Amino acid sequence: MTQPGDLRLAVGMVGGGPGSNIGIAHRTGLLLDDRYRLVAGSFARDAGRQAAMVAQLGIDSDRSYADFRAMAVAEAARPDGIDLAVVATPNDSHVEIVTAFLEAGIAVACEKPLATDSAGAAELVALAAERDLVLAVAHCYSAYAMVRHAARLIRDGALGDLRFVDVEHASGWASVLHEAAGNKQAAWRMDPDVAGYASVVADIGIHAFHLVRYLTGLEAEEVSAQLDTLVPGRRVADNATVALRLTGGVPGRLWASMAATGQAHGLKIRVFGADASLEWFHEDPQHLVVRRADGTETRYAQGMAGLSEDEARLNRVGMGHAEGFIEAFANYYSDIADELFARRDGVPVVHRELSYPTGTDGLVGIQFVEAVTASNAANSAWVRPVSKKAGQ
Ligand SMILES: NC(=O)c1ccc[n+]([C@@H]2O[C@H](COP(=O)([O-])OP(=O)(O)OC[C@H]3O[C@@H](n4cnc5c(N)ncnc54)[C@H](O)[C@@H]3O)[C@@H](O)[C@H]2O)c1
Repeated sequence: MTQPGDLRLAVGMVGGGPGSNIGIAHRTGLLLDDRYRLVAGSFARDAGRQAAMVAQLGIDSDRSYADFRAMAVAEAARPDGIDLAVVATPNDSHVEIVTAFLEAGIAVACEKPLATDSAGAAELVALAAERDLVLAVAHCYSAYAMVRHAARLIRDGALGDLRFVDVEHASGWASVLHEAAGNKQAAWRMDPDVAGYASVVADIGIHAFHLVRYLTGLEAEEVSAQLDTLVPGRRVADNATVALRLTGGVPGRLWASMAATGQAHGLKIRVFGADASLEWFHEDPQHLVVRRADGTETRYAQGMAGLSEDEARLNRVGMGHAEGFIEAFANYYSDIADELFARRDGVPVVHRELSYPTGTDGLVGIQFVEAVTASNAANSAWVRPVSKKAGQ
């Protein structure tokens, strides 16, 4: 690992090779605040693609790895080995890759879903706890500045008692049968052996669910779900409608779709309280609208004076200068860096109420996916997600 005094942490990446979907968001987000250097990687299993990526990124040849296991062992043995491993491979490989790095004593930031089932995710959470290592999960939407401000408002009671939550992550990217045309991202997302039958929930419903928990601080006590395949010929569910009973009986609904024809990204959340409601829409992420019972409406803008410290600490360029998806990844990585630097330098970790999602958040998300799957199989019966174990 890097030494005290080194102002940048060393990072290695698994996955995110040439042409991958999310790799570049991780790389640019990591580098945005000059707190990390990308020094090692196993970006693709194909040797040619690995070589191309390493050349493009200027990574030393002795830190280019054909295999993630070799990378974990070699980096752990180096005096200047990586402080953090980023995992951005398809879902079914997460458990073995994360395990390899945690067992080597290296902190991990893994893409969602953390595993393909809750048993796998629970093992990773337990392993990280046993080794006292950071394990983060890339539910990056909770790292937007205005999401943090929304969470602060709700936690400070600005909406009054919460009454209803409505969230949707309904995109239209797969409203045609991309998997039949060789689309790389569609290939594994539409394969039930890799992504599970409830693919749309594990892929994006889990983000929407995390946003509900992050904003409100409430957990899902029960879910009643219906999974559908809207696009003929598809082998997984591409649409999910889920009724939620949140902590204290607060009702909610969650719609996740990748077949919502004509929609772009489609992540939106509204939270209704006794005194006011709020709305945040990912395609206009710099704004947050609060509406009160008397009809008055406030449209908060990122960077304006007087917002919470949770929001203010995430601004870079000031009001009116658009910050978006890449900056959300940068915020996520900056929160992780705060903890890694503190641990490395032997100073107390500042624990913020609103920070990066942990392995436990990843586990709770998968328990939600499993509850949705079970409810759908039982004709939409109410199902209680298996609760996280004490201490996790
Ligand atoms: N947080 C988000 O907003 C977000 C968005 C998209 C995808 N994701 C998640 O990110 C992960 C990757 O998704 P994607 O759409 O980028 O997939 P992708 O298919 O576009 O890319 C996967 C990459 O991983 C590489 N890879 C696969 N197995 C590997 C291995 N064993 N060793 C090294 N490299 C390997 C592939 O060569 C490829 O470069 C998934 O878990 C997905 O759910 C998250």
